[in-house]
Amino acid sequence: MLSLALQAADTISSIFAPVSTPAMKEASLATMVLILSLVVFVVVAGLIAYSVVRFRAPAGERTSEPPQVYGSAQVEAAWTAVPLIIVIVLMLATGRVIHEIQAATAPPNAVEVTVIGRQWWWEIRYPKLGVVTANELHVPVSDSLVRRPTFLTLQSSDVAHSFWVPRVAGKTDLIPNRTNHMWVEPREAGTFLGQCAEYCGTQHTLMLLRIVAEPPEQFARWVEQQRQAAGTAPAEPVAAAGRRVFLGTVCAGCHTVAGSAANGKNGPDLTHLMSRATIGAGAAPNVRDRLRTWIRNPDDVKHGVLMPAMQLDDEQLDQLVEYLLTLR
Ligand code: CUA
Repeated sequence: MLSLALQAADTISSIFAPVSTPAMKEASLATMVLILSLVVFVVVAGLIAYSVVRFRAPAGERTSEPPQVYGSAQVEAAWTAVPLIIVIVLMLATGRVIHEIQAATAPPNAVEVTVIGRQWWWEIRYPKLGVVTANELHVPVSDSLVRRPTFLTLQSSDVAHSFWVPRVAGKTDLIPNRTNHMWVEPREAGTFLGQCAEYCGTQHTLMLLRIVAEPPEQFARWVEQQRQAAGTAPAEPVAAAGRRVFLGTVCAGCHTVAGSAANGKNGPDLTHLMSRATIGAGAAPNVRDRLRTWIRNPDDVKHGVLMPAMQLDDEQLDQLVEYLLTLR
């Protein structure tokens, strides 16, 4: 429910409101198919309705069988040829859109991202930019002068997942031991919501993701900010104590905070945790009290989550939360 509330707060995800090149191509194809199907339906249903009414036996008059009519080469040729033409048109139009999307090559300025599906969150890496984050994919916006598409390499570290942000592009699966590719090219700035679209375990519903499409300067600033390490201890004593809790418990075995001794790889990178809007891939808003509830017992927020409760006392919890809040 909370995640739904979070979604409602942002844009509604509709395949009929595309904002990105592949989604636009797919939406116009889908619209054409829908209109054609509607025309076929109206014509066929209309002819049936007309025949039923027009040739109904008059009330009270009970005839035996109506006259049986066989064979009209012209009529048969027509109802064979017309559907054949419709099917060929649909096939060619679909083939063209599939080709345009799948055969697209990355221009030199394309952003490259590796997305790794995990139970139940998204690891997001920008290998050329040296940025690692989770659940929120930042990309630059294309305009009429410069195209800035983002090409995604999709992998899975456990089971099959599916990357789907309806307003941005169609679904593509993330499959263990296989690498898939897709691309996105938003043409307007905004936050676009998506979710895992392949059942992947008990928390499949809470495997939400968002694409943050930004003007190029803003994207560059985001990259710059994400590249900064956050290793040094905060000056504030409670947060500094929290950092010792973090580094002294198993937290550091699963999470990375760039520049510190924490370099675990099993959980999301926390170097810039507070730059993200949600905790647990959309399970809760990323704010102080929810962060505390989450760390005290992650299972209360997202049942089945792999992150264990650390059995910290209240003081340690407060310190740890204070430290995490410094990871901006
Ligand atoms: Cu990941 Cu469903």
